[in-house]
Amino acid sequence: MSQVYSVAVVVGSLRKDSYNRKVARALSELAPSSLALRIVEIADLPLYNEDVEATAPDSWKHFRDEIRRSDAVLFVTPEYNRSVPGCLKNAIDVGSRPYGQSAWAGKPTAVVSVSPGAIGGFGANHAVRQSLVFLDMPCMQMPEAYIGGAASLFDEAGKLSDKTRPFLQGFIDKFASWVKLNRAV
Ligand SMILES: Cc1cc2nc3c(=O)[nH]c(=O)nc-3n(C[C@H](O)[C@H](O)[C@H](O)COP(=O)(O)O)c2cc1C
Repeated sequence: MSQVYSVAVVVGSLRKDSYNRKVARALSELAPSSLALRIVEIADLPLYNEDVEATAPDSWKHFRDEIRRSDAVLFVTPEYNRSVPGCLKNAIDVGSRPYGQSAWAGKPTAVVSVSPGAIGGFGANHAVRQSLVFLDMPCMQMPEAYIGGAASLFDEAGKLSDKTRPFLQGFIDKFASWVKLNRAV
């Protein structure tokens, strides 16, 4: 049987009707059989505080375990004030500690940003990428995924528009190759 890689999808929005969550679900449906995507929730992670690391909350431990048992990570995020939403930055920080035991290290990754605006969350996308350098995560460079006009991506029934599907398909297919290549290193 060929290898199936487990991918933790971290969505940077806590909103019930989040466009980013919808795109994450669409990517999960479009993913080739070599990838198994699942959303790892971040809403219940208390703000990172080094003082409580010795008695770390269960939600931190659970989140770190979820990342550790994954072969790869896909970030799907909105842009808040031209940068990373606080909930996502907090999740990144939680996963990066205790010092020397980062759950992220070495996991192949990619970043998708989604916004109703025209520039598709470019600022957030690159702010996440900045952290990925220090986290030592091999990040897929191309295709870049700055998805604008999010309000018209899905119809009333939640179906992804035919205009966007080929792009997302190409993205997730390329990501599957990226994961395979970098997981073998
Ligand atoms: C605090 C805040 C700041 C925002 N800043 C930006 C921004 O810098 N750029 C942008 O394109 N949209 C910005 N938005 C609008 C979001 O893109 C929009 O709310 C989007 O729907 C959030 O993604 P979601 O649907 O996945 O929750 C901001 C929204 C909030 C609540």
